[in-house]
Amino acid sequence: MDAHRTELNAYDPTIAAAIAGEERRQADGVEMIPSENYTYPEVLAALGSVLTNKYSEGYPGRRYYGGQEYTDAIETVARDRATALFRAEHANVQPLSGSPMNQACYFGLLNPGDTILAMDLSHGGHLTHGAPVSHMGKVFNFVRYKSAPDRQGAIDFDALLAQAKEVKPRMVLCGYSSYPRDYDYAAFKRVADEVGALTMADIAHIGGLVAADVMRNPFDAGFDVVTTTTHKTLRGPRGGMILCKKTFAQKIDSSVFPGLQGGPHMNNVAGAAITLKKAAEQDFRDYAVQTLRNAKALAAALMAEGVTLITGGTDNHLMVMDTVASFDLDGRAAEETLDRIFITTNKQVIPDDPRPPLRPSGIRLGTPACTTRGMDEADMTRIGGWIVQALRRHDDPLAIERLAETVRDFCRGFAVPGVSNI
Ligand SMILES: Cc1ncc(COP(=O)(O)O)c(C=O)c1O
Repeated sequence: MDAHRTELNAYDPTIAAAIAGEERRQADGVEMIPSENYTYPEVLAALGSVLTNKYSEGYPGRRYYGGQEYTDAIETVARDRATALFRAEHANVQPLSGSPMNQACYFGLLNPGDTILAMDLSHGGHLTHGAPVSHMGKVFNFVRYKSAPDRQGAIDFDALLAQAKEVKPRMVLCGYSSYPRDYDYAAFKRVADEVGALTMADIAHIGGLVAADVMRNPFDAGFDVVTTTTHKTLRGPRGGMILCKKTFAQKIDSSVFPGLQGGPHMNNVAGAAITLKKAAEQDFRDYAVQTLRNAKALAAALMAEGVTLITGGTDNHLMVMDTVASFDLDGRAAEETLDRIFITTNKQVIPDDPRPPLRPSGIRLGTPACTTRGMDEADMTRIGGWIVQALRRHDDPLAIERLAETVRDFCRGFAVPGVSNI
């Protein structure tokens, strides 16, 4: 890797400097975007390997190109590790990322125009769950259910059943990008069974927490299909995986290839295999437990200062802060203020947000990345205090400058996996 870096420095100093700058940025600040993480050095090695040179259209033993001795072995190991870890009957590890994995499921299991009952986007659902701006929202008929933010984000399953009876979905979809609670998958399954719908859970965000068994596994409730990204709480390379019952294996595989994609990115598949090996170890379970503890500690520190968190707290790795209610600042201004003190967050719509997505009412915070660096509950309490001070004193440049120095000094005490000589 280092030899390659020297070559890059010499050949293309512009790109080399940008990579070095990004390394410094990732080390200097507290990363609180809940969908981000620091992957393992072993995964970085696989990503930067010669596997990127190889075309492997098809599946192990059934490829359209020769020379698959090693790629077949890698993909088979990745699939076996995925099925074992998630208690799934079948795994497809080829989706290039989270969005194509979901598209492959819809197209593989449904027909265009079919109805999918999915979480309202402002209550936590993802773009691929049928946002009008996404192609999926144009191809399928997405109908929305909501959570009750004033009842800790509870989902009213009687209302969901009534809605399901009315709209007759072909699929009940649960999953989220900004919902701070766990799901009652068994209750979703009962609703789906009543109306004869398929069940799909998109656990893109919480894949690592489910793998470590610190959050519920949808397969324990009999779900048909589960999708996850590999780069969020799972801490792997960018990518997606589809896990499903055996009866859907053929449809899912042919929907991924040749339905949606061409050649899989075998360097990523190798990275996913390494990630899945790591995720089965006790160290990863400890990491997942700590991620949840850190989220609770950060939420408690913020709420102790009077901050409004959507649903009043968190049961997973993320939380959504109503910055308008808490600080009279919209989400963009809050995000930019925290950027100035090296705490990275993202602006976020809140349930039924009256504001537009680029100037929403809140921000989203999460603990997966900072837990990877070894931060604990006491650190979360400190960080919570800095966030509140910065948002309260956002128009005081001196206060912001002092906080920025404090955060940078603090971060120097925590290494970034895969990044040396900062
Ligand atoms: C729930 C959920 N599904 C799917 C995706 C899409 O993943 P990607 O960005 O890798 O396409 C995301 C990404 O944030 C997500 O949160």
